[in-house]
Amino acid sequence: MNPDAIRTVAVLGAGTMGNGIAHVFARCGFDVILRDIEQPFLDRALETISKNLDREIRKGKIPDAEKPSILARIQPVTKIEAISRADFVVEAVPEQLELKRKVLADVDRVLRPDVILATNTSSISVTVLAAATQRPDHVIGMHFMNPVPVMPLVEVIRALQTSDATFDTTMKLCERLEKKPVAVVDSPGFVSNRVLIPLINEAAFCVMEGIATPESVDAVMKLGMNHPMGPLELADFIGLDVCLDVMEVLFEGFGDPKFRPCPLLKKMVSAGWLGKKSGRGFYNYPGK
Ligand SMILES: NC(=O)c1ccc[n+]([C@@H]2O[C@H](COP(=O)([O-])OP(=O)(O)OC[C@H]3O[C@@H](n4cnc5c(N)ncnc54)[C@H](O)[C@@H]3O)[C@@H](O)[C@H]2O)c1
Repeated sequence: MNPDAIRTVAVLGAGTMGNGIAHVFARCGFDVILRDIEQPFLDRALETISKNLDREIRKGKIPDAEKPSILARIQPVTKIEAISRADFVVEAVPEQLELKRKVLADVDRVLRPDVILATNTSSISVTVLAAATQRPDHVIGMHFMNPVPVMPLVEVIRALQTSDATFDTTMKLCERLEKKPVAVVDSPGFVSNRVLIPLINEAAFCVMEGIATPESVDAVMKLGMNHPMGPLELADFIGLDVCLDVMEVLFEGFGDPKFRPCPLLKKMVSAGWLGKKSGRGFYNYPGK
């Protein structure tokens, strides 16, 4: 499909990533069909988008007068058939293989055959997801970063089946979204998580082995390596359960002991210490 002909985009899942992705498409002039399974999830997503637009207005990123038209371009829906007129689809449902397979197979049946299906998965093989559809050459990974309205990167992941046309259209679409696309080949963790999560895992080993406190590990990386956040602060922000899941994907995917999840990380997840969202991780978050 000609990238300039894409006007209406369907976003599947209105959670953390879905609302951010819908926000960015609508801000860049696309009509967005935002689909979730229940109305309250859609209401919450629209509230979040409204608040995040206010923040962008305060920062001077968009004029005040544009907010109503941006919001009006987002149509919340619960029925799958409502996305049938979409020219492009981004899937952002929870990171569960069977759920994603089902969602992609279901939308495959209601869309025109030329429509590209992009998945925002952070760790599932895009090649496996493409195989769940009747249009594997039209499936690609579009890995947005959180928070989507702020982060410039989109990791564009080519499955084994992805056609050159699908790849070119997706790269051009990222530019229309004012994002910076970086192409990578489908492989466990892609590049972002393959590099970042082992860094976090190694930082957890340093704490477990008594080499340094979380504060000291983070200070070394911030003051010495110019990282804006320390790896353990970042781990708490991402969620320690999410970090452990990705480490397990890398460990299983490559079968290489260098990706062994840190036992301290495993123990903390077992204790329910998941980081910021649970009130405790490598740091404490009173009031959460
Ligand atoms: N959170 C992050 O920092 C982050 C970053 C990059 C990529 N991702 C990836 O993005 C995807 C979504 O993650 P999230 O953090 O936004 O999850 P989330 O749990 O915040 O949101 C998922 C949403 O999908 C909805 N949903 C469930 N089943 C659905 C269905 N059948 N159809 C439509 N909607 C459905 C849920 O109700 C929920 O609102 C995952 O694949 C995740 O790995 C997450």
